[in-house]
Amino acid sequence: MNGPAVTGPFALGAALAEREQAGLLRNRIATDGASGGRLRVAGSDYLNFSANDYLGLADHPATKTAFKAGIERYGAGASASPLVTGYSRAHQELEDTLAEWLGVEAVLLFNCGFSANQAVLKTLLGKEHLLWQDKLNHASLQEMGSQLPCKMKRFGHNDMAALERQLEPNRGLIVSEGVFSMDGDQAPWTELATLAARSGNWLMIDDAHGLGVLGPGGRGTLAAQGINPARVHIQMGTFGKALGVAGAFVGGSRELVEYLVNFARHYVYSTHMPAAQACAVSKSIELVRAADDARAHLGQLIARFRQGAQALGWQLGASDTPIQPLLVGESSAALQLAERLRERGVWAGAIRPPTVPVGTARLRITLSAAHREQDVDRLLDALGACPAATTVGEARHG
Ligand SMILES: Cc1ncc(COP(=O)(O)O)c(C=O)c1O
Repeated sequence: MNGPAVTGPFALGAALAEREQAGLLRNRIATDGASGGRLRVAGSDYLNFSANDYLGLADHPATKTAFKAGIERYGAGASASPLVTGYSRAHQELEDTLAEWLGVEAVLLFNCGFSANQAVLKTLLGKEHLLWQDKLNHASLQEMGSQLPCKMKRFGHNDMAALERQLEPNRGLIVSEGVFSMDGDQAPWTELATLAARSGNWLMIDDAHGLGVLGPGGRGTLAAQGINPARVHIQMGTFGKALGVAGAFVGGSRELVEYLVNFARHYVYSTHMPAAQACAVSKSIELVRAADDARAHLGQLIARFRQGAQALGWQLGASDTPIQPLLVGESSAALQLAERLRERGVWAGAIRPPTVPVGTARLRITLSAAHREQDVDRLLDALGACPAATTVGEARHG
């Protein structure tokens, strides 16, 4: 046995055993690289339908060259938190680019989207406030909301009538996502902006999965839905999905950003993202803005997949984005289906509770502009070869 005996105040073993018994134990698989819509694992190559690299930029030569050049100029790490000496010209230029691109006054960079979301909620909301959020919002938002002294109200997924009933004037913040991470559908931003304005509350979008993919020039969900960014007080987005790098930002008024610089502990007390990473993200944004052809190709792949999967009788979500949940139901069936696909050279992640609600386990299939039509056809062939009775029971009607 390695390490000390597991005794003491924490029942780690019992919690793990309980998870395992419920078929919900997580473990990690070390991959040997991903590129061009493919993944290498333990010496085998798979078609990768589980990444968030929607435009195939994670492996783009220009982004990698910008990263390397950034390392040559600034070194490998930021060496300090942003208020000490970790904030560089490269960070500032990325903030300015984002502000201009997204139509906000100012932007602040974070090491990841999880901390950006948590920083915003924790820094803004006191016990006198109210937080309203969609019940399918990301774990970072749900978790922080439940720990804050403010009251949190969760409304049914995209249920604007329920939100309207819950709202109280001038009390706090409404948060929803541009594209929901496990379902791929979009929130109704015209209605959200109207409800926020009418009730005098602030509105925040987490556009982790819309940025780069949706809207003119990939400006995201608000642009796609024709929403003036001035109607949304806080925009949050990540660099680790369509932009192909890592990190995140929060954008809004100059006052909001100055407030976060002064009071957001996740920002103040954390080593800044490497300047070289900021260089890579800036290059990625340049590529995203010019990627209309890639977005059009991605749209065609999405339509091809949906048509093919529905013809095979699979139940899909109401999504027109690269996130295509294939609804299965039971966790064991989702795991089995993922395994069957792997046997056929296709990698797609089984998503189980607590990431998604109980009884809605799914394969989260994600498409990328790096895929070709033949890749989608191979995925469909693999799905067609999976026997319905032993994999998904009710979910495949065919
Ligand atoms: C909707 C949403 N918000 C935030 C995050 C967190 O972003 P990051 O991966 O940069 O921490 C994710 C990542 O999975 C996400 O899906």
